[in-house]
Amino acid sequence: MSNSNTSGQDHLPEQWKTALERDRSQAALYADPAPERRAGRMLAAFVLTGLCFLALPGTLLGVWNLISIAQQHSTSAASVSWIQAHGQAQLFGWVGTFILGISMYVLPKIQKRSLKTFGTAWAVWALWTVGVAGRWWVGVSPHGWRVPLVLSGLLELAAFVLAIYVLVSGKSESSKEKTPRRKPSDLGSWLGIFGFASLGLALLVNLKITWSLAESAPLPVYPPVADRSFLLIALWGFTVPVAWGYSTRFVTVFLGLEQPVHRAALGLCAAITATVVCALARQFLLADLLALILTGVAIWALRVFRPSARPPKLLAVYRRYPAFVRIAYGWLVVGAIVGLTADILPTQTGLGGASRHAVTVGFLATLIFAIGPRILPAFLNGRQLYSSRLMAASLWVLNFGCLLRVSSEAIAYSMGGRAWAVLPVSALLELTAVVVFVVNLGMTLKQPMPAWFGPEGVNAKLPLYWYVTSFPKTRPILIHSGLKTLARAKALPRSLSLGDAMAADGASVERVLAELRAFFSRIQPRRAGRV
Ligand code: HEM
Repeated sequence: MSNSNTSGQDHLPEQWKTALERDRSQAALYADPAPERRAGRMLAAFVLTGLCFLALPGTLLGVWNLISIAQQHSTSAASVSWIQAHGQAQLFGWVGTFILGISMYVLPKIQKRSLKTFGTAWAVWALWTVGVAGRWWVGVSPHGWRVPLVLSGLLELAAFVLAIYVLVSGKSESSKEKTPRRKPSDLGSWLGIFGFASLGLALLVNLKITWSLAESAPLPVYPPVADRSFLLIALWGFTVPVAWGYSTRFVTVFLGLEQPVHRAALGLCAAITATVVCALARQFLLADLLALILTGVAIWALRVFRPSARPPKLLAVYRRYPAFVRIAYGWLVVGAIVGLTADILPTQTGLGGASRHAVTVGFLATLIFAIGPRILPAFLNGRQLYSSRLMAASLWVLNFGCLLRVSSEAIAYSMGGRAWAVLPVSALLELTAVVVFVVNLGMTLKQPMPAWFGPEGVNAKLPLYWYVTSFPKTRPILIHSGLKTLARAKALPRSLSLGDAMAADGASVERVLAELRAFFSRIQPRRAGRV
């Protein structure tokens, strides 16, 4: 990064000193690529952490629980503490981590502000990860659980407060005047605001439960009614509305839908608030009824089932993903209807779990598996999805597993019979889909950042700072091919051209450019359709 500190510059070549001087006296002529690289790295940490929670503490434990339940034909065969640990790992560890990371990456851009508080964003990541991992660990290994359980709730809440600070702070990119913040007028922003407010509330409810358990309970197990109230807020107050909020942007654009009905914001947010209030007041029938109405209004407002007004964006991803986005919304309807039925028929014990997983696996996971591979690689410093075939496999297998799960769970828990044998198959299918998704995104991250220009675009006029900051792997290549000052300089002037840097060190122009061109030809993007 460029630095105005002059100490230690005496040993620098003349070209470097002049460039540092120039940096101080004039504004930069090109946008600094460093903040985008840092934002990409921060998002990658959230994505990788979310994937870890999804695979092991989340899905593997869920599969283990379901297989135990199916083997013994009894819901009590799985430890309640393990079931709750699984639920927290999936909802907060996976979905919550993705939402926090994506929001801190994308919302400042949408609001045309630059994210300056990277240190705070990393603190959010650390506090959230330790808090959610601690909560999971207490659930599966409850020795000496009291203090760690409360601590996990406190850490999650602290991470949330800092995340809100990151989201509302940050400078406007227009340097000319300080424009006052305008009240948002679009559906997506309001859903996001109410979604995050519900997350704050869910974390407070969570903290209160952990505190009362630590005071007097024999085990770290949330009482069923309190757990249900907390889950309703976390699901129908936070994750589902935030998924709708992001749908107004990404689903609308990528599926080429008509603009969402923004005037629905007031009604939807009022209904979300009413659902959350009913959940707090433990009026579950009313909360589930409101969730069903909310789902209908949201689907209407998002126009998900209306034909696309423009061609969907299908480049370099599985071409049928728009159908899976619509299937996800279909699952949400199923989940909301089955959830309400579970309240009306309380003796049918499998309906609650079937509804929950129609919403979590059918809606949330399908939506993330369909839209994540479309947006995340681009956000992660312009990468390309590793494989659209793996994306297709994860979507098909997940939905087949979910279909078996939702249809057989209600029957098995209530009537028994052969449906018990289907549940482990559904669990293994869902696990396979999750592993495929994790591998696909993991490999996407492992690939080098592609260069979106050909090797012929490499030239000596471009700034050295731009090469090294945009593509950090060029640094050792440049040092090795003769740019010795680069190895020892503390500050890298933004206005120093590669040509001047080569002249300063007497490096061979042919050699440096040849090495750079070889590097950039190695990291060319794959052609669309090869995957
Ligand atoms: C992918 C395969 C999955 C399997 C095999 C699985 C399995 C289970 C099982 C056996 C239960 C307890 C009984 C029941 O409700 O049926 C459960 C509960 C739960 N699951 Fe899953 N699940 C999976 C995915 C997910 C996902 C993706 C989410 C959320 C994003 C999730 C969230 C929950 C929640 C919130 C609970 C309730 C926890 C509680 O009672 O506190 N599950 N899951």
